[in-house]
Amino acid sequence: MSPLPLPTARTLPFTAPWLLAPMEGVTEPCFRDLVLTRNGPDALGGTFTEFVRVSSMPIPRAVVRRHLGPSSFPQPVGVQLMGNDLERLAQTARNAVAAGAVLVDLNFGCPAKGAIAGCAGSALLRDPAAVERVVRAVASAVDVPVTAKIRAGYDDASRVEELARAAELGGASMLTVHCRTRAEAYCPEVDWTRIARAASSVSIPVCGNGGIDTHADFERLRRETGARLAMVGRGALADPWIFSGRSVSRGEAARFLVEYAQLMKERHQWPGGGIAARLKQLLRYWTAGGLVENAEHRLEWLREKDGAHLLARLEELASQP
Ligand SMILES: Cc1cc2nc3c(=O)[nH]c(=O)nc-3n(C[C@H](O)[C@H](O)[C@H](O)COP(=O)(O)O)c2cc1C
Repeated sequence: MSPLPLPTARTLPFTAPWLLAPMEGVTEPCFRDLVLTRNGPDALGGTFTEFVRVSSMPIPRAVVRRHLGPSSFPQPVGVQLMGNDLERLAQTARNAVAAGAVLVDLNFGCPAKGAIAGCAGSALLRDPAAVERVVRAVASAVDVPVTAKIRAGYDDASRVEELARAAELGGASMLTVHCRTRAEAYCPEVDWTRIARAASSVSIPVCGNGGIDTHADFERLRRETGARLAMVGRGALADPWIFSGRSVSRGEAARFLVEYAQLMKERHQWPGGGIAARLKQLLRYWTAGGLVENAEHRLEWLREKDGAHLLARLEELASQP
């Protein structure tokens, strides 16, 4: 499958315009690989690592390698970096490329207190010139495409055009706009006109993000905003088949979760506190295959404290067609 014909100096390696969002604590290699095995390169165009925080020193190549994981797929995995120190970010980006990264993404959206206190993530949205500096430092350090992911603003969305232009001026090959501001966190409402405003103020491809719940939303977002690509976060935790739009049986849905646990064990990634928290992180959103029937049933899954018991219940469902 040839890369998307996008008019950028560094061709984006995505195989389709629908992308899986970076999600800390979720999109580690086991989860990503399972989503990639279930959505071919025509349906899912690329994925990202969880953010890799660059603070007191550059992140070594071996650590980035672990974030990339052991498998390879036709779709690229972008390594997402978050930080504000230009030289350490640049060196980490070089290390990422040496580790095999074909794309580096920069995080300007994390709303966590730690990121804000360290003036990284969404803290940088208060200063478009800083966004431009960070993008330029990384884009000049590596030959692979460097992309930026912003929220629509810090307290409000009044400067979204300015932020988009800052990323473009810095040399970003693509800009992802999560349409919520930092202040809006993960509120249920979304305003896609902010994505449209960003898309019409730059000539680099814009990827719209925020509030995609169904397969049909991908195309709707592109149509309504002029964004060339669309990215889904929690919608893919609800339904990992959202990219292909295939509806799955209860057994198939349960097999995803069972395989997830198996893969974590095989790869020695079994969480210290047990598997329950990781499975419940998905079950909190899960809709695929009618595995979670209604709000009451969801609470019942989420109340399960014993990982072995939770897994046994899923295994029983997984044995069904
Ligand atoms: C659990 C979780 C972890 C996240 N971690 C990251 C991250 O590491 N990097 C990032 O840029 N965004 C992160 N995000 C934001 C998502 O990438 C995405 O922008 C956001 O969820 C909005 O998309 P959605 O409405 O489709 O979920 C995270 C979101 C969630 C729910």
